[in-house]
This record gives sequence, structure tokens and C-alpha cells, in this order.
Amino acid sequence: MKKSIIVPTVCILFIMVAFAAPYAEETLKDKFPFYPSLITTESGKPVKPSDFESPDICMGCHPEIYAQWKGSMHASAFVDPVFQALWKLGETETKGFTKQLCGGCHAAVGVVSNDIVFKDGEFQASDIVKEGVHCDVCHTVKASTFLETPTYEPQNASIIVAPGDVKRGPYKDSESPQHDTAYSELHTQSKFCANCHHVFHPVTNFHIERTYDEWKYSVYAQAGIQCQDCHMMPVEKAIEAARTMKRPQNPGKPSIMGPDRDNMFTHEFVGANFTVPTLLGHKKHAGIAEERLKSAAALDVQAPQTGKRGDMVTLVVKVTNVGAGHNLPTSLTEVRQMWLDVQVKDAKGKEIFRSGSLDAEGNIAQDARIYNAYAVDKEGHHTVKPWEMVRFEYNKTIPPKGSAVENYSFVVPQDSQSPLTVKTVLRYRSYPQAVANLLLGKDAPTLPIVDMVAKDVTVKLN
Ligand code: HEC
Ligand code: HEC
Ligand code: HEC
Ligand code: HEC
Ligand code: HEC
Repeated sequence: MKKSIIVPTVCILFIMVAFAAPYAEETLKDKFPFYPSLITTESGKPVKPSDFESPDICMGCHPEIYAQWKGSMHASAFVDPVFQALWKLGETETKGFTKQLCGGCHAAVGVVSNDIVFKDGEFQASDIVKEGVHCDVCHTVKASTFLETPTYEPQNASIIVAPGDVKRGPYKDSESPQHDTAYSELHTQSKFCANCHHVFHPVTNFHIERTYDEWKYSVYAQAGIQCQDCHMMPVEKAIEAARTMKRPQNPGKPSIMGPDRDNMFTHEFVGANFTVPTLLGHKKHAGIAEERLKSAAALDVQAPQTGKRGDMVTLVVKVTNVGAGHNLPTSLTEVRQMWLDVQVKDAKGKEIFRSGSLDAEGNIAQDARIYNAYAVDKEGHHTVKPWEMVRFEYNKTIPPKGSAVENYSFVVPQDSQSPLTVKTVLRYRSYPQAVANLLLGKDAPTLPIVDMVAKDVTVKLN
């Protein structure tokens, strides 16, 4: 080989090695001892489950916050039957790769204490692990290691937990007889939530759940509105924040022993999940989820005032994301379903047009305009298993304050009675019925659907 070729080749190889190295699995394992989860402890060594305190202890002095958290999806993050089913399937199919990976976010205490055991097809762990994302998980977070992750973003539980006496939170002047306190700016920022609400495939770094990114590049981030301002606020204040683009205030008393505070953040952490809270009997949280969904979108339906039998009528439907600080829907977009159901009937009630109906098995009609993502594996086959996903074939979700516009056309039959009624509904379901049947087996309930927003218009025939 000539010198003129060798030198650039060596240079290119050097650059490739230099840049590839930080992403190599071995390097990540050195940096993150609980890999494939990026969660870690101060020493990098495992701690004991008993180093974490039970939420029952916190309840004594923080009863209001405890009652809000109990029944939240954070409290259910381990026991959630849908999560459990997919986690077990992953553990079997990947031969042990998902215990730590998924556990880092759903069962953090179990991962940093090596306490989770997969035996006879079930995950076993101490009670404190089964409490999911609880008080001491969040309030012992000392830092985020986002500057060391493969994407330089918070991801896959990139937190350092330091269980012990110090509880970290938003106050600079807080004093407690029970524990030490420390101010943590991180806890007041979206970046805190992002450590878990930003899911990447750990090997390919394919970005599966993107809620933080969607927020980060939105008008909400520009206005300084954080995740906490919507998800740690009473629902009416969150709606107000989205409408006015101003940070809300919620005075309260965080501890029975402490002072009144100008601002206190609530702990229900409700998003859109009303299915699991309903299954587990947490009615209050299911109710808030429904309210949030009903505040998230606006619908505009344009139809001609008059139409002619035998002629084509075109409807223009616009869906706007008015209330969510990220895309609509967000997060597990590869299974969530938000779709338009459009039905046109004449004055006698005869159906003339329909798009987005459900069949007897609960499947949404193929013609429906649906907003979600379609994930595929490396062969290009559709998959709902996160460990198989390599890309989205499409990702049709609506950005914050953005819209999607759909056209529908139909021909008015000669025997139609005037006027026609056009009924448009934007509907939401946590997963396809078939996915629920696959994961929950014979116990799968018929999944509830929330009608987020609806609009009726009429078209006269002449
Ligand atoms: C980086 C943190 C993180 C990791 C890693 C993670 N998850 Fe999650 N998971 C979340 C968050 C946050 C949600 C809530 C998002 C939402 O509800 O839209 C969630 C929700 C889910 C849900 C939906 C539950 C429901 O009832 O609707 C399932 C199922 C799930 N995860 C399975 C898994 C599995 C299996 C793995 C491992 C292969 C995994 N997760 C890894 C953070 C994570
Ligand atoms: C004996 C009563 C008591 C118990 C038990 C208790 N706390 Fe506190 N905690 C307080 C008081 C009082 C404050 C001060 C409130 C204030 O400043 O508004 C406080 C403040 C806090 C803060 C705010 C810290 C800051 O600087 O922002 C956090 C976080 C916290 N507690 C978490 C916990 C957790 C987690 C538990 C359970 C492991 C717990 N507390 C148990 C009394 C208690
Ligand atoms: C998912 C993480 C998470 C969990 C779980 C959690 N907290 Fe918090 N908590 C926070 C964050 C973040 C803040 C600060 C919000 C801000 O100021 O922007 C906070 C604030 C607080 C405060 C200060 C007062 C307030 O409400 O603003 C106290 C006290 C507190 N939490 C106690 C608890 C207790 C007790 C539990 C369990 C019952 C708990 N937290 C569970 C994340 C969490
Ligand atoms: C302006 C208010 C607002 C802000 C800011 C906001 N959200 Fe949301 N969020 C909503 C609303 C409304 C919904 C219900 C509609 C939906 O699913 O998007 C929601 C839903 C969710 C869901 C449930 C998604 C599903 O389908 O299961 C998660 C998870 C979530 N938000 C996390 C976050 C995180 C993390 C941040 C910060 C990076 C954030 N949100 C910022 C308003 C907000
Ligand atoms: C230690 C990881 C972790 C942290 C930190 C965390 N979350 Fe979560 N969060 C989860 C997991 C895991 C779930 C999903 C549980 C499930 O569906 O089984 C979840 C669920 C949620 C949901 C319910 C989603 C739904 O579909 O209704 C909301 C809302 C939410 N988180 C908001 C937040 C906000 C806001 C913060 C920051 C203040 C935050 N989370 C911090 C792990 C975390």
C-alpha cells in the first residue's frame, strides 16, 4: 500500500475508534455498573433494599402528598399487569437482558440492590421494590449522568441514587425533624423526569419513547413550562398553563409540621393512562386521566352548508394539540391509539359514510385516520416488543400547538333525506385490543375508550 493511502486510512480508523469507543458496550458497562440500565449509586456498588425507606414512613408527615402518589402510575410502575406481561416476555426472549434494563425505570430499588430474581416465569423482589417509583426513589436522586450517556441526553434511568438521610427537593430553607434536606435544582426541571421519560434501545440507541425531546423543542420549553407544571399540578391548573403559557402556582402545606408554601407540587403524576388505574381500582387517578385527555385536543370540522344528491361532499377535519406539552399522543406511541371516528347519517338515520369504526373484536377499521407510531424489527416486520424495535416506519403524532388536517369525501346517495349529520369524534385507547389480549391472556378486559372531543355539523341537501 502506498504511503498516501496508508496515512489517511490510519487516520480514518483512528477517528472511527475514537468516536465509536464511548458507545461500545464494554465502555458503557465500565461506566454504568447496572448496565443495560444506566442507573447507578454513589460508589457504583450495589446498596441494600433496606437502605430505602418505605412510603409509609413519609406518609406520617406528608399525608396529602402520600395520598396523591398512592394509586399513581408511579406507585404502580412495578405491579402494572401490562408492564409485567411484557417484561416477562422480554426476559424470556432476550435471555435475561430486560431485567435490569426495564427495571431501572420501573423498579429502580431492585436494580441498584440486585434484588430482582426471575424464577419460574415470575419476577420476585422485596416489598420496597414493588412500590415502584416511590418517594425515596425520586428524593434520593443526587444527580443525572446525562453528560456521560451515549446520546448526551438524560435516558434509560441515567440517575445516581444516594439512599440515606438526605431528602432532596425544591426548597432552599426546608427543615425536618425526621431527615436532612438538600436543595436540588434538578428536581425543579423537566430534565429530572427525562431520565426515565426518554427511552432508547440500549444497543442500537433507537429512540423509542421521546416525550422529553418533544417537549424540549416545543413552545412550552421556550416559555419555561416544565413537566412538573402540568403533571404535578391539579388538572385545572395544568389546563390553564397550556392556555395562558404561564407557569401555575398552587399554594399548600407540604408537611403537617412545616410552613405554608406559596407553591406546592402535587404528586398524582397523571398522564393519559386510565386503563391500568381502572384495572387496579384507582378511580381518582383514572378520572384525572380522562379529564386530561379531554383537555388535550381541539377539533374543527369544515363541511359545505349545502350538498346535492349524486354529488361529492368533502369534509376537512383539523385536530389541534392544544393542551399537551409534547406530541399527542406521546411516549408509547407504538401501542397507544388516538383516531378519528367520522360518521355521516341522513335525516332518517341511514349511514352514508363511516371512517374509524370498531369491529366486533375491537379492531379499528383499516380506513381510520390514526395518530401513533408504527414500529418494525430489523426484518421490517411490525412489532410491539421494545427490544426488537429498530425504527418507526411512520410516526404520525401531533406536535405541541400543532395540527393534523384530514380530508374525507363521499358521494350523497340519491335517496338521502335532508339534512345530513356529520358526527366527528377524536377517540383514545391505551393499546389495541389484540395487544391487551396477547399480554393479559384470558383475563384481558374489553379496553375502555375515552372520547376526547366531539363535534357535529349538518349539511342541507337541495
Ligand atoms: C428509561 C425508562 C424506561 C425503561 C428503560 C423502560 N420503561 Fe417502560 N415505561 C417508562 C415510562 C416513563 C412509561 C410511561 C409512559 C406512558 O405511560 O406513556 C413506561 C410505560 C411502559 C408500559 C405501558 C404500561 C401501561 O400500562 O400502559 C409498558 C408495557 C412498559 N413500559 C414496558 C417496558 C418494558 C418491557 C421495558 C424493557 C424492555 C421498559 N418498559 C423499559 C419508562 C421506561
Ligand atoms: C416526622 C415528620 C417527617 C417525616 C416522617 C418525613 N418528612 Fe419530609 N419533611 C418534613 C418536614 C417538616 C419538611 C419541611 C417542609 C417544608 O419546608 O415545607 C420536610 C421536607 C421534605 C422534603 C423537601 C426537601 C427540600 O429541601 O425541598 C422532601 C423531599 C421530603 N421531606 C421527603 C420525605 C420523604 C421521602 C420521607 C419518607 C422517607 C419523608 N420526607 C418523611 C417532615 C417529615
Ligand atoms: C417521580 C418522582 C417523585 C416521586 C415518586 C415523589 N416525588 Fe416528591 N417531588 C418530586 C419533585 C420533582 C418535586 C419538586 C417539584 C418542583 O418543585 O418543581 C417534589 C416535591 C416534593 C416535596 C416538596 C413539596 C412539594 O410538593 O412541592 C415534598 C415534601 C415531597 N416531594 C415529598 C414526597 C413524598 C412524601 C413522596 C411519596 C409519597 C414523594 N414526594 C414522591 C418528585 C417525586
Ligand atoms: C402543558 C401541559 C403539559 C406539559 C408541559 C407536559 N405534559 Fe405530559 N401530558 C399533558 C396532557 C394534557 C396529557 C394527556 C394527553 C396525552 O396523552 O398527550 C399528557 C400525557 C402525558 C403522558 C402519558 C402519555 C400516554 O399516552 O400514555 C406522559 C408519560 C407525559 N405526559 C409525560 C410528560 C413529561 C415527561 C413531560 C415533560 C418532558 C410532560 N409530560 C410535559 C400535558 C402536559
Ligand atoms: C425513576 C424513573 C422515573 C422518574 C424519575 C419519573 N418517572 Fe414518570 N413514570 C415512570 C414509569 C416507569 C412510569 C410508567 C409506569 C407504568 O406505566 O407501568 C411513569 C409514568 C408517569 C406518568 C403516567 C403516564 C400515563 O400514561 O398516564 C406520568 C404523567 C409521569 N410518569 C410523569 C413524570 C414526571 C412529570 C416526572 C418528573 C417530575 C417523572 N414522571 C419522573 C418512571 C419515572
